[in-house]
Amino acid sequence: MIVSADDFRQVLSRFASGVTVVSARDTAKNPIGVTVSAFSSVSLDPPLILICLDNATFNLQNYTDGGAFAVNILSSEQGDVSNAFAFPGPLPPFEQVTYSEGELGLPLIDGALASIQCKTHAVHPGGDHVIIVGLVQHAKWQPHINPLIYAGGQYRAITELGTEG
Ligand SMILES: Cc1cc2nc3c(=O)[nH]c(=O)nc-3n(C[C@H](O)[C@H](O)[C@H](O)COP(=O)(O)O)c2cc1C
Repeated sequence: MIVSADDFRQVLSRFASGVTVVSARDTAKNPIGVTVSAFSSVSLDPPLILICLDNATFNLQNYTDGGAFAVNILSSEQGDVSNAFAFPGPLPPFEQVTYSEGELGLPLIDGALASIQCKTHAVHPGGDHVIIVGLVQHAKWQPHINPLIYAGGQYRAITELGTEG
């Protein structure tokens, strides 16, 4: 028997993940972004990562067809940033954060723990989501900052950094 939707959600929420905002530009070059925890490394050589986006994502085509996107890995201080990009209100999320422009022209969120700028490598169907594989062009990170963690349906913080920071 196939797993129930509730059991599936419950079991997936047991897997602790970081939280990212995937950012890009729409066709008018406005910054767009969405909160994403479905992020994974794929390959070291070539350097590939993937993200999964709901087929109902408002700007989906800009992420799949735009040619480039960035993954901003959020710090433990950025729960409000995650909420701004997950629960859009009247004020556009990019008016609630400060950001700079990366080498590929993508918006990079200030204060993020790391940013990964990618060119789009492949797009695959994945049920009610789409899997976007990115070929990493630029990777930047801040040492000694804790990541934002999402587990059990809540934001959590780890209090202890590894020695590598
Ligand atoms: C912690 C967290 C993780 C999320 N992860 C994903 C994800 O991996 N993929 C996804 O499509 N939506 C994810 N969402 C939901 C989207 O951020 C949310 O549906 C967003 O409003 C969609 O953007 P849109 O308004 O541009 O369609 C997540 C939300 C939260 C709070």
